[in-house]
Amino acid sequence: MRILAIETSCDETAISVVEATGIFPNARFKILSNIISSQIKIHAKWGGVVPTLAKREHQKNLVPVLVKALKEAGLLKSRNQKIKRENEPNDILKREDVLLKKTLPFLKKYGTPKIDAIAITHGPGLEPALWVGINFAKALSFAWNKPIIPINHMEGHFFSAFLQGKTEKKSPIINFRFPKIKFPAVALLVSGGHTEIVLIKEWLKYKLLGQTRDDAAGEAFDKAAKMLELGYPGGPAIAAAAGKFPNSNFQIPKINLPRPMLNSKDFDFSFSGLKTSLLYKLKEFPKITEEIKISAAYEFQNAAVEVLIAKTLRAAKENKAETIILGGGVAANSELRKRLASQKPIIDNQIKLLIPEIKFTGDNAAMIALAGYAERGKGTDPGSKKFLKIQANGNLKLS
Ligand code: KG4
Ligand code: ZN
Repeated sequence: MRILAIETSCDETAISVVEATGIFPNARFKILSNIISSQIKIHAKWGGVVPTLAKREHQKNLVPVLVKALKEAGLLKSRNQKIKRENEPNDILKREDVLLKKTLPFLKKYGTPKIDAIAITHGPGLEPALWVGINFAKALSFAWNKPIIPINHMEGHFFSAFLQGKTEKKSPIINFRFPKIKFPAVALLVSGGHTEIVLIKEWLKYKLLGQTRDDAAGEAFDKAAKMLELGYPGGPAIAAAAGKFPNSNFQIPKINLPRPMLNSKDFDFSFSGLKTSLLYKLKEFPKITEEIKISAAYEFQNAAVEVLIAKTLRAAKENKAETIILGGGVAANSELRKRLASQKPIIDNQIKLLIPEIKFTGDNAAMIALAGYAERGKGTDPGSKKFLKIQANGNLKLS
């Protein structure tokens, strides 16, 4: 089965084609293409993602990204058949005029690719951005007569940890099988919009154990970086500054920050207090020097990583988890990866740890395709009642 996946929940326009053979979860996978067009430069000017700009960029980028993804997968063929339902793209994309203008010539020029389904992120995320992807997926679904599988973005991040494989010689194709995992599993999903601890007792069944009560972990990194004038996105900027912290240079002023909710009995987080504490600490200094920035970034990262790890480990222990799975943009943080991997139950092999490769930590469509394969039972045919009900849900929950 070949799945074409589309991801537009935030500031990356991403399309991937994944081929799966065999029965889930023992299937063999091949990533035939995984194209990501990042809007980071556009949003950086504003210090964060601007939803209306994201929507506009997705409209501009979707068709070129699709052409690239199909071409790389060897599935871009000139058209030799008529579109069955020629008018539907017009109807569906009537509110996406920029995208419609690009979609119609695309459909005229190229034939139906050899895929079996289209997986699309329908939430959580920025609704204007999600809608562009959903409407595009629906238009393609009608034109090609292929079912659509709606996917939760966080389920995608969960699946990104399974996406580890070898690249074929002289080709971008990645071949892999899922590593065997034992349930129950606990997942720490940390991104720019979400921070969640999820219990998974069996495949595709998710129970939210805890989440942030205010800012997401990635958002906190972004805001802290802004305060320290380190640039956007803040996660990599804070990590880079923290990496300059010397072990034995006492000239660097020590900054102490709290570990919010570290000892609370639940599995919730709060990162907005951490950010405010940083703001007050910085006010104690007459001038924010390079050294102070490094010290602040180091302590901020420590505080965030410590709380994330402590809660995840306790959730795993209390639920007798055999596996911990990490996912989301913040999973790129090397301190988080390193420290999680060096926890005693993990070193002692009592708990197996699955961490995504760095290149799959950020938003991508390959992870949505994997989730799409796992959830293919949720596929709906173009025009069906369920199909028409697929809509963007900015607050979609895992279940
Ligand atoms: O999953 P993602 O790409 O997009 C969302 O779904 O939100 O996550 C993006 C977030 C941003 O807040 C970014 O600052 C953060 O992930 N991030 C990091 C690192 N790389 C990206 N946070 C901490 N350390 C990093 N190395
Ligand atoms: Zn994400």
